[in-house]
Amino acid sequence: MTNIADSVVAIDGFSSCGKSTLAKELAKELGYRFIDSGAMYRACTLYFLDNGIDIGDSSAVLSGLERIHIEFQNIKGHNATLLNGVDVTSEIRSLRVSKQVSEVAALKEVRIQMVNLQHKMGAEKRIVMDGRDIGSVVFPEAQHKFFITADVDVRVQRRFNELITKGKKVTREDIKENLEHRDHLDSTRKESPLTKTDAHILIDNSFLTRAEQLMVALRHIKENNSKR
Ligand code: DC
Repeated sequence: MTNIADSVVAIDGFSSCGKSTLAKELAKELGYRFIDSGAMYRACTLYFLDNGIDIGDSSAVLSGLERIHIEFQNIKGHNATLLNGVDVTSEIRSLRVSKQVSEVAALKEVRIQMVNLQHKMGAEKRIVMDGRDIGSVVFPEAQHKFFITADVDVRVQRRFNELITKGKKVTREDIKENLEHRDHLDSTRKESPLTKTDAHILIDNSFLTRAEQLMVALRHIKENNSKR
């Protein structure tokens, strides 16, 4: 299963549909690096919120972007997101950030900078990157492209369980409202909207376990490789 040297695997799809779970498990299986592009937009959003940057003011956005340094580090076996050297892995998943991130991710200036960073991180290939525009815009030449989706109520329940396990006080209604809002903004924005291209393999995981989802993706990768 590991004869896919130097490939890029792009995983796109809706919010909280299990993209990151699949991306992490595929990366482990293939011996690739996992890169969470959503975490970059989230870290950027956190910086803007904490520093009172008005996202309607493009010069404030540009100067904010100059002061942002995002990197990923393996800390105690976890893929940590560092914003200017500080571990923000947990904070970027808060509802405060989730409520603003789609507006920030729609800004052209932000996308240019994040896509540059994604290209740098992916330059050596052998990566699995998840996001919204990875197979369509960031790595259109990616050898394997998946588009993941799941029923909205299934996604709400998964997110709810995740946040409750972390001790966060949230309601399903808040989560559903946020997911639907982000789905809408991410799919309809002008800059690099969430898009399923003809080359994306669609996986609806509403009724799949994690193991089944991984098997489906690996089977497609294998089939795709045998055609090369
Ligand atoms: O995958 P996520 O929910 O952590 O992503 C957070 C937000 O970032 C999401 O609402 C849309 C945006 N995003 C994006 O526009 N492009 C990407 N490649 C990844 C995420």
